[in-house]
Amino acid sequence: MICIRRMTAHDLPLGMRLKSQAGWNQTQADWRRFLAMQPEGCLVAELDGVAVGTGAVTAFESVAWISMVLVEQSVRGRGIGKALLNQALELAAELGCASIRLDATALGQPLYESLGFVPQYELTRYAGVAGPVGSTSSSAPIAVRVARSADWPAILHVDNVITGTQRSKFLSRLFAEDPAAVRVFEHGHRITGYFTLRHGSDAVQLGPCIAETDEAGSALILDALSRYAGNRVYWDLPSDHFAAVQIAKSASVSPQRQFLRMCRGVGVNENRNGLWASSGPELG
Ligand SMILES: CC(C)(COP(=O)(O)OP(=O)(O)OC[C@H]1O[C@@H](n2cnc3c(N)ncnc32)[C@H](O)[C@@H]1OP(=O)(O)O)[C@@H](O)C(=O)NCCC(=O)NCCS
Repeated sequence: MICIRRMTAHDLPLGMRLKSQAGWNQTQADWRRFLAMQPEGCLVAELDGVAVGTGAVTAFESVAWISMVLVEQSVRGRGIGKALLNQALELAAELGCASIRLDATALGQPLYESLGFVPQYELTRYAGVAGPVGSTSSSAPIAVRVARSADWPAILHVDNVITGTQRSKFLSRLFAEDPAAVRVFEHGHRITGYFTLRHGSDAVQLGPCIAETDEAGSALILDALSRYAGNRVYWDLPSDHFAAVQIAKSASVSPQRQFLRMCRGVGVNENRNGLWASSGPELG
């Protein structure tokens, strides 16, 4: 029998085991952030009393993200993923979310399609060891500086305008975890973009990097590639983001895999030209 229950901190070893089995990059800190952001949204699936699956729903006002959908390899194809998703959708409805979004892997896509999710656009993960990007790097970092706490409202504003989502409960945690990692692009005393990152188990996940202009986005990314030179990085960006793809092509990173951003319900008005790096396939 399949039973879905709430996840607690005691389930972190399960979460870590399943994400490692799937070859994902999350750490315990990522799981703890999900638990802190939306405790009732973190789910465990049990099959005959044995914990074998996870999933998370995070609500940002009217927009919910579903993520961390993982089922133990040996028991896949028995309806556990679907049961997790049904519970997640029920929770999202209870939380008043009209839009449900996720980034699907190839394995997850058929499941999500069967539940009414429709494709929006593809993201490509670029992976490799970061290094400075030659020709443009000399002028890039000039307007990029470390973020200060006074920048917080402006950062949130840029994020909200570009993503169409009120992500403060995610971003505030991310920034508090590693304030020194947060950079902003300032143009005429106005912040037009920001960058931060997460340290994953396999690579540094660049992003989110959100910018109102190509000037801001490219400067923030070039600055990050240069500062994290020598580190293995993942950089997830919309596959058709021309300006970002040009930088990726001249950097020492190459396409590793794709995700399909999908939505169920009301569409979200986002500007994906401003999405210079996704936060990873979890929260947009
Ligand atoms: C994706 C995943 C969670 C699916 O879990 P699962 O327990 O095997 O899924 P279910 O058994 O509930 O399948 C649900 C439906 O999707 C279909 N489905 C599941 N995996 C499929 C696959 N690889 N190809 C085609 N259809 C598939 C099933 O046939 C079923 O359809 P039905 O209800 O019409 O019979 C699991 O494969 C997994 O953990 N993969 C690795 C991590 C991952 O990629 N997660 C998705 C993140 S977006």
